[in-house]
Amino acid sequence: MAHADPGTVFDIVVLGAGSGGYACALRAAQLGKSVALIEKGKLGGTCLHEGCIPTKALLHAAEVADTARHGSAIGVSTRFDGVDMPAVQRYQQGVVDRLHRGLTGLIATSGITVVEGTGRLVDAHTVEVDGRRYTGTNVVLATGSVPRTLGVEIGGRVVTSEQALTLQELPERIVVIGGSVIGVEFASVWASLGAQVTIVEALDRLAPLEDPVLSKGLERAFRKRSIGFRTGVKFTQVSQDDDRAVVQLEDGSALEADLVLIAVGRGPRSEGMGFEEAGLALDRGWVTTDERLRTNLDGVYAVGDLVAGLQLAHRGFAHGIFVAEDIAGLSPAPVVDEQIPRVTYCEPELASVGLTEAQARERFGDVDVVEYNLAGNGKSQILQTAGLVKLVRQQDGPIVGVHMIGARMGEQIGEAALLVTWEAYPDDVAPLIHAHPTQNESLGEAALALAGKPLHSHA
Ligand code: NAI
Repeated sequence: MAHADPGTVFDIVVLGAGSGGYACALRAAQLGKSVALIEKGKLGGTCLHEGCIPTKALLHAAEVADTARHGSAIGVSTRFDGVDMPAVQRYQQGVVDRLHRGLTGLIATSGITVVEGTGRLVDAHTVEVDGRRYTGTNVVLATGSVPRTLGVEIGGRVVTSEQALTLQELPERIVVIGGSVIGVEFASVWASLGAQVTIVEALDRLAPLEDPVLSKGLERAFRKRSIGFRTGVKFTQVSQDDDRAVVQLEDGSALEADLVLIAVGRGPRSEGMGFEEAGLALDRGWVTTDERLRTNLDGVYAVGDLVAGLQLAHRGFAHGIFVAEDIAGLSPAPVVDEQIPRVTYCEPELASVGLTEAQARERFGDVDVVEYNLAGNGKSQILQTAGLVKLVRQQDGPIVGVHMIGARMGEQIGEAALLVTWEAYPDDVAPLIHAHPTQNESLGEAALALAGKPLHSHA
């Protein structure tokens, strides 16, 4: 715990050391700014301790379980004998601990003053922690988000993603409420590890924020994996006793489970920290900012999940870096949500960037679309995965959306993000050579098809 000398005025006081906050602090320190970084929990925040990293470790354990289960299909004698959850937890925690040590070391050597404790915004230049005041020319709010629960009491058999990461036993029957990112990732993990899973989603399809072609592919894959789902129906009540939990649905039916995961979205963490009292403008809890992430209070910025939009760690990093550079006078370009890649790490993976076909039609009128099926991709066949790459372009214009489904598709989202962000024309990217045999060729093939010169498919 560091204490600043009374009277110290930092260039920047950052409240919250998650992806947005620590990225801002590190970049600002690199740029020669003095920084106080205030955190009540652990450096790294939700992403490192209760989000991206531990869930992806679980998803890797799930992939290994599937590999063991299916080895004999390709002539390798393997058998899935079950899962030792405490050992999975140790593996998951080991990954988190190593990254946490690395991050702590990095911040310790960067000259940043780390303050442990709960901060409260007093005014546009002051954050109070345990009675001590930290003053900054600028204040950056980066307090993140928390799971929404829609009034359901969390405890016992009813959990959010936070408790779901610490299960010491794998329940037999699990109901997942919410069929978007968190819902389908956990459903995928638990089904691979051997549980019987049913998803309840209020909208008419799984992964409802994605292009419908990805939802269709995911539903087909989940059906094949015996993951149950009920779409177009909301829950009305969740109850539990010693033996089971019961989820009542609005169509009058009920689902019994040993565990219920509530995954109905995350809301901003903006209460109880003096935001309103300090005069900060909020909209249903989100901090209102302009495109340069400035709030209505002079010198106060907000970054990451606290700002309405995509709730993704890499958006938080980008926001944090942007604000540090803005304060340092480097005039960086604002972060545009439409250019931020999205990956859902279930099996099969979903990866997308830019506009869906429907969004593109709404904005541009006519669009051209190509779907390249992974059935034609050698590496996809080797991996025995099904899926597709869909490209959407403004008619006679650039590629504005990339949508992919299939094993490991997240690994090629980088190229997809370049295509969309650089407003690439199919004719420009078609000559780009993709290594053979990689699944990445499917993106190349889709671009060739969109340019009217497909090699392995019909235009
Ligand atoms: P979400 O906001 O993406 O989805 C919530 C889902 O719950 C929606 O599909 C909604 O229709 C459904 N829902 C709402 N009320 C319901 C009801 N009464 N009954 C049934 N269904 C209902 O939120 P989610 O999946 O909880 O994720 C939270 C945030 O965390 C998202 O922004 C997500 O992108 C992010 N995240 C990102 C990951 C990644 O990038 N791989 C992984 C996990 C989370």
